Amino acid sequence: MSYIYLDDAATTRVDERVKEVMNKFLSDKFGNPSSPHKKGKEVKKHLKKARKETANLINAHRDEIIFTSGGTESDNLAIKGAIRENEGNHLITTKIEHPAVYETCKFLEKNGYEVTFLDVDEDGFVNVDEFQSAIKEDTVLASIMYANNEIGTIEPIKEIGEIANDNDIILHTDAVQAIGKVPIDVKNENIDLLSLSGHKFHGPKGVGALYASSEINIQPIIHGGGHEDGLRSGTENIPGIMGLKKACEIAQKEMKNDIEKMEKYRDELIGEILDKTEKSYLNGPKEDRLPNNANFTFEGVDGDALVLQLDSHGIASSTGSACSTKEVKPSRVLLSLGLNEEQAFSSLRLTLSKFTEEKEIEKTTEIVPEVVSSLRGMMSS
Ligand SMILES: Cc1ncc(COP(=O)(O)O)c(C=O)c1O
Repeated sequence: MSYIYLDDAATTRVDERVKEVMNKFLSDKFGNPSSPHKKGKEVKKHLKKARKETANLINAHRDEIIFTSGGTESDNLAIKGAIRENEGNHLITTKIEHPAVYETCKFLEKNGYEVTFLDVDEDGFVNVDEFQSAIKEDTVLASIMYANNEIGTIEPIKEIGEIANDNDIILHTDAVQAIGKVPIDVKNENIDLLSLSGHKFHGPKGVGALYASSEINIQPIIHGGGHEDGLRSGTENIPGIMGLKKACEIAQKEMKNDIEKMEKYRDELIGEILDKTEKSYLNGPKEDRLPNNANFTFEGVDGDALVLQLDSHGIASSTGSACSTKEVKPSRVLLSLGLNEEQAFSSLRLTLSKFTEEKEIEKTTEIVPEVVSSLRGMMSS
């Protein structure tokens, strides 16, 4: 069997149909959509269609889509752009956000904003009542992720959206991990701003989008020639945008079946591994969990060593620990669930995709327990 890729939360394989579309815009259709001639006009037409197709996936209007360089930029534009334009000095977010949101909020805190970082429960859920209680007179924005990238928890965004709406607070959600794995309707869920990224759902890297409701105003964070309705200057990454559009179109048509398949494999993976491995636990919830996410703690096993061993056995996985400035820290997300440092360092994340096959799941459920047990043997000898 060839190499088994179970790190789809990090990035996904580009769908062949996406590649095909992109190729056209890397060769024949190379024009700049701002050019007044035929070559430019042809691409401009496609850009307009791409905006519509991307908007459709989340029930937005095409004028509410701003193309960006990915999830990180969308998160920065949403948060910084909204607070510059709207009054209020207080923001609400959570302790388990991706760094693209978490570090942005920390930066704003250092620069005079007040930020409430909400706790989560032992499965990673935000408490809706705590969210309501955190709201102050001058709360301008809440940024609550749609689904967590490490433990797969799907947050109660619809309920949070209702509260935000009732209190005139702008709601941003980082849906980078949820897109293509959870049906999302921004209107029905009262979402004002939503970030998505191409490479997490079989589109290309370096391209994403921000949905910004027509009912709110934001300011740009990148200034220049006034592209994207003045909200994101810079010549559009047309091949990337066309690839993103195709990924959205495919997700909309095929998501239902893909979700069912991923859920089945995820449950097999979790059930078998926990059954076969002593002193192992699932991190994150059993319900309201991304269909492609499994995250374990194996007591007494170093997560980094486990990832390396699995790699040598032909399986790509990841730990919850984050390397920053050469210092290895335990995962902030796992600590927020109440795990201690040792437990957090003993974690393993396996994330699958629509391309994952049954035989890969079977192989993984054999290999992981064996490698865990051999690492434990090495530790005790
Ligand atoms: C939840 C979440 N938000 C934001 C990002 C950043 O997205 P990008 O890699 O497109 O900048 C990621 C990527 O891992 C993510 O998982």
